Amino acid sequence: MFDDDSIFGQLGRHATLPFANARMLPLEAYRSTEMLNAEIADLFGNDWLCVARTADVPQAGDYITAEIPTSTGQRSLIVIRSALGDINVFDNVCVHRGAELLNGCGNENRITCPYHAWVYRLDGSLAGGPYMLDSVEADGTPFDPSRHALNALRTEIWEGFIFVSQADDPTPLGNRLSGLTEVVGRFEMDGYVPVHEAVDVWDTNWKLLVENFMDAYHIFKVHKDSFGVNGDGTQYTTMYPGTADWAHHRVAEPGGDLCHESNTSLEGEWRSTIVLAAVFPGFVIQLQPDWLWFLRITPLGTDRVRIAWQVAVAPEMLDAQANVESYIAEVMDLIHLVNSEDHPIVEGIRRRVQNPQFERAPMSYLERNVYDFDRYVSTRLGH
Ligand code: FES
Ligand SMILES: [Fe+2]
Repeated sequence: MFDDDSIFGQLGRHATLPFANARMLPLEAYRSTEMLNAEIADLFGNDWLCVARTADVPQAGDYITAEIPTSTGQRSLIVIRSALGDINVFDNVCVHRGAELLNGCGNENRITCPYHAWVYRLDGSLAGGPYMLDSVEADGTPFDPSRHALNALRTEIWEGFIFVSQADDPTPLGNRLSGLTEVVGRFEMDGYVPVHEAVDVWDTNWKLLVENFMDAYHIFKVHKDSFGVNGDGTQYTTMYPGTADWAHHRVAEPGGDLCHESNTSLEGEWRSTIVLAAVFPGFVIQLQPDWLWFLRITPLGTDRVRIAWQVAVAPEMLDAQANVESYIAEVMDLIHLVNSEDHPIVEGIRRRVQNPQFERAPMSYLERNVYDFDRYVSTRLGH
């Protein structure tokens, strides 16, 4: 069954490796177009994908646009809050003749198409279009706006993150993530206030970026001037085995306190605990008592990755600042520094796996979550 040399056969064999024998994925997995196509179709096409946070669209009519990958290219979505307060996600395309409806972010009472001014309500239903009185439906009856709504995607909200699924009948996300909810629920991160967002494109394979984010091994070395500036905190890191849908580890410095005193929901060690979590395929978060950093990682090619990321701050932390701007600038300086430290490493690996001149070697216990993510990829795509 596992005797073929294709990348999928190699992955099938890789999926059987116990953690004790962990290696990085077969190197072809980072450069193969066949592999990329399978990832987009089977992973991004079937699993839940984060598109935004509820805090990005706080008021009725607030919207943002987002992109997710499909086998035919990027799919553009509108995430919008309805008059009733619920959040809908629609394809960002007018059903009349395909114009893109919205750009960026903003607030609208109605969505009016920029091409011929068809007007949609916030629930996606079509209110009508001008000069259509003489038009008829395919069955000859008069043009009926109620037959032409925006295409809605299946949506679920988890801890303030808005997820969509492109699958026909996906397992509810809340069920898949129940174990992770037990860990992160106490942080009440849905209330964290967004302070910065950006979209970057790096020249590397998307999997190298997920692996890097979840790699607790490189912190003491790559991030010695940022996260590790006060010494090697690796000894405070606890690794936990991942599941089929997510993985995480925690860093908790004894006696540390990242929490503002007015925060009464985090107790004991949790007041200094940092959680690094991945929801497969490409959603990763660094959650702290004081702030949250999350990345939506999607492939643009085997050697190009789109990173849509945001930083949000715990509300009591923001309230407590005498100078909010300088506090945010301090957090952002740290994160920009961390990004600049990771950037050359993950781009360098992508260059070196193109014409590899090495045999893959064993991993450290601190790479447990890299193994978990690689097992997800190899189990799902291998045969
Ligand atoms: S394409 Fe939108 S109204 Fe014509
Ligand atoms: Fe890093």
